[in-house]
Amino acid sequence: MQHELPQKMLSVRHMLGIEGLTLDDIQTILNTARVFDEVNTRDLKKVPYLRGKTVAHIFFESSTRTRISFDIAAKRLSADTIQLAGNSSSTQKGETLLDTVRNVEAMKPDIVVVRHAQSGASHLVAQTIEGAVVNAGDGCHEHPTQALLDAYTLLQHFRRTPQEGLSGMQVTIMGDILHSRVARSNMLCLKALGARVKVFGPFTMLPPFLDSYGVEICASLEEGIKDADAIMLLRIQKERLGSLLFPSEDEYFRLYGLTPQRFYQLKPDAVIMHPGPMNRGVEIASVVADGPRSLILKQAENGVPVRMAVLYCLARGLS
Ligand code: CP
Repeated sequence: MQHELPQKMLSVRHMLGIEGLTLDDIQTILNTARVFDEVNTRDLKKVPYLRGKTVAHIFFESSTRTRISFDIAAKRLSADTIQLAGNSSSTQKGETLLDTVRNVEAMKPDIVVVRHAQSGASHLVAQTIEGAVVNAGDGCHEHPTQALLDAYTLLQHFRRTPQEGLSGMQVTIMGDILHSRVARSNMLCLKALGARVKVFGPFTMLPPFLDSYGVEICASLEEGIKDADAIMLLRIQKERLGSLLFPSEDEYFRLYGLTPQRFYQLKPDAVIMHPGPMNRGVEIASVVADGPRSLILKQAENGVPVRMAVLYCLARGLS
């Protein structure tokens, strides 16, 4: 079905987190993504909406999915794109993030997409940039476009519109919640769309403020998977000390992993999600990750229309 581009403007200039977005903003982005989904099925996958605009991707942390899908998204909208990777930038010579951003800003990009290991880095960048800033993941804080594409994938799979939302559905987020920006953004986004959200993980990997998100903390893994419509697994964030918080990967898999035995306890139509990159045999068994109820590659695919929608909506706010 052909959808029309929504005319609503976002209430925000930047996309720094799900926190700060209204439900209307989330629905506008997801409805816009439905239009761009169709563009991505064409032979000629290009529309002119960002012609003459420049999108700068500044990634100070490694990335496969986010970086490639933002670049594809910008190009399919006809924007000019530049890439700056932290490990080949002048930050290696001691330049600060702020000086780097000031120099990028001097070249007048319209939208800056930034990933950084420090929570709050994208907020700092937004204070320096005339145009719009997109947070592509900042430390343990937020990864808003991941949550939007996850919500989009769930709505698409269960054939619901953004207006219908996810009410009546239960989503369980499992794993290293403490270090996960994906978990934080997803808790906010899923709750905004009306889902019941449960979390489960090692006690050492649960942050203290979970109650404030309105999510339920499961006492056991069985409680988390029972009645879930979707299980979202999270990677142990080894780069953020995650691996120091449990004895071994084998033990983690045995106690907390989605094994084939646990998979068979799920509802027959429950789906499996993971933002990637996965640690196979640690948080998820390969046979589950590659099975017919896994939406993991669909999530990666949906990164493109959702990020096209985010860029498009932010660019409209600039003109
Ligand atoms: N999900 C996600 O952010 O993956 P990348 O780190 O590969 O971008």
